[in-house]
Amino acid sequence: MIFKKACIYILCFTTFQSSLAQSKKAASVSIGKISLQFTLDESGKPAYSVSFNQKPFILSSALGFSLDCDSIFYKDFIMTGSEEKSVDENWQPVWGELKNIRNHYKQLVVHLVKQNSPYRLLDIVFRVFEDGVGFRYEFPGQPGLKYFIVKDELTHFNLTGDHQAFWIPGDYDTNEYPYTTCALSTIDNKQLVESSTAIAVRVAPDRYAVQTPLLLKTAEGLYINIHEAALVDYAAMQLHVDGATDQLSARLVPDAVGNKAYLHAPFHTPWRTIIVSDKATDILSSKMILNLNDPSAIANTSWIKPMKFVGVWWEMQTDKSTWSYSDFPDSINAEGKLIPNKKHGANTVNVKRYIDFAAANGIQGVLVEGWNTGWEDWFGNWKENVFDFVTPYPDFDVNDIKDYANRKGVQIIMHNETSGSATNYERQMDTAFRFMNDHGYHSVKTGYVGKIIPRGEHHDGQWMINHYLRAIKRAAYYQVMIDEHEPVRPTGLQRTYPNFMASEAARGNEYNAFADGNQPEHETILPFTRLMGGPMDYTPGIFKLNHYSRDSSRRVHTTLAKQLALYVTLYSPLQMVADLPENYAGHMDAFQFIKDVPTDWDDTRILEAEPGDYILIARKQKNGNAWFIGAITDEHRREMTADLSFLEKGKSYEATLYEDADNADWLQNPEAYRIRKIKVDQSSQLILKLAPGGGAAVSIKPLF
Ligand code: NOJ
Ligand code: CA
Repeated sequence: MIFKKACIYILCFTTFQSSLAQSKKAASVSIGKISLQFTLDESGKPAYSVSFNQKPFILSSALGFSLDCDSIFYKDFIMTGSEEKSVDENWQPVWGELKNIRNHYKQLVVHLVKQNSPYRLLDIVFRVFEDGVGFRYEFPGQPGLKYFIVKDELTHFNLTGDHQAFWIPGDYDTNEYPYTTCALSTIDNKQLVESSTAIAVRVAPDRYAVQTPLLLKTAEGLYINIHEAALVDYAAMQLHVDGATDQLSARLVPDAVGNKAYLHAPFHTPWRTIIVSDKATDILSSKMILNLNDPSAIANTSWIKPMKFVGVWWEMQTDKSTWSYSDFPDSINAEGKLIPNKKHGANTVNVKRYIDFAAANGIQGVLVEGWNTGWEDWFGNWKENVFDFVTPYPDFDVNDIKDYANRKGVQIIMHNETSGSATNYERQMDTAFRFMNDHGYHSVKTGYVGKIIPRGEHHDGQWMINHYLRAIKRAAYYQVMIDEHEPVRPTGLQRTYPNFMASEAARGNEYNAFADGNQPEHETILPFTRLMGGPMDYTPGIFKLNHYSRDSSRRVHTTLAKQLALYVTLYSPLQMVADLPENYAGHMDAFQFIKDVPTDWDDTRILEAEPGDYILIARKQKNGNAWFIGAITDEHRREMTADLSFLEKGKSYEATLYEDADNADWLQNPEAYRIRKIKVDQSSQLILKLAPGGGAAVSIKPLF
């Protein structure tokens, strides 16, 4: 039977092979300024190139794979056909930066077959948008390719010059590096990786590899962003930089035995994405990555709600209190019980203090870290059974806190630090989510600090990619929203799983607490890189900007006004209000902006932006008429003008401006701000003066 099938298959193939002598060898598709060319060369190697305004910016670049069963799955192909279609549709995200998103593209599918037995098939699907290109590989179900292993993906991005790059190292386990800006040819991550000792796990064997999203700027002022969309059941893609030839090539994060992905046809890879524009603002407004993800897989999304939250958190980051109840796992009394260190942050009294603060200020959530047993030796031991996610420390009264929070109308946010022991979390996950359901927790912050278990796996390898998604899907089943720390960087999957609210996957504000921090330009680069894939839990809102740590050199590298502006410039549907209640107490006038600023928007206008220098964004609140503006600068003083022509014609508004004081400066005088109110309308322009490392935040509310 199998023999008969194979004969028919080979017979069919031989018949069409004769007609392939003159088969097509090229196809192209374009929209607006973007056009894409597909070609097959004399040796049957597929390649693509992309132009902006008729000028190629990705030169002919290789496509294909090395597979366990076919090490040259990148040549000897014949093109058997191609198909095209156009799509122009609108969709509404469950939450986000816009009410409506337009998905407008032309698709080209190229069908390829290898010239020799067993005549394996490969389809390549290209989608060309007005702001870039996405493409992915599809392995159709076929007799000659069933279960197979990807040894390497050979996708290239051949550039036209030695562009300026905004990059972090291609590390298999972390994205928590500061950004470097330099010419591609001078990229070398070795020294940065070695010296970044504040990052728990660093594995970056290729000194010339960078992480995506990678932002490039050409000498002619073209901005190019390279990333991926819909990373599912595959390893994350990093890029190897060949500085001599201006070529980038895909590097998939390997698993414990060095393989990249275990696949079963039919299968399609994630999309490789290239967003391009001659305006930096267009890069930030691109919705291409979301558009390349599938619509929501969750039918009832009514329980998914963006929110702000405070937390028993910064006080541990700054050493005022501890996650653990005892200082050592063997600090045990005669009854075998842990001896308290008297510095445990997640105690009932302290948690209630945060609940009170949240309730008094209309903040919906309170995150509590260090509430469950296991923190005495949670990190650095590559220990498998670290936490059980249900057993509280003796001074954390789960039921009392639950009732108290309920009475005050505040939600407690669960914390599930796994310490990288994903196997343990997989076993406990359902129990953990049931515990959340039983105690009224609707969201969880997960964490993966440490070396991964299964041992030898990496944070960004296929096994962990599957783990993160399993957690998101299980959370959805229990109607729990999720905020991941130390995961792979996002690829737009929040469209398909809108309970996947945010993730860290970058260097957050916390580095200002326990390490030398983030330079003033950091937040002007993040939206062009890490945030292209999805929201970040950056934890803004620090008001006490220095002298919060025993190490007096620690400081937040921004002014207070810039901390406010970050609520607008770094979008997330979950935004932490990260400082301690007592540090807000003296600045409740400035705190008003945090109380007012929404976490969900109907409209977004990127007014001005330049990576590494400045960002100015205006957003319109969801289901309302108020607008909010955030402006931030790097280490340079700057004057920016916000043109308010987006306001409704004929309407008057009151604008409240939260600005750096004239003598403010992130280093010398970070907490100096001033607040003023003025009447504005559609014809107004706001001149915003930003201090070095500073920012400005504005709320604009209709007067009637
Ligand atoms: C690292 C996370 O980024 C941080 O927010 C958290 O407090 C610690 N891990 C402990 O889980
Ligand atoms: Ca972290």
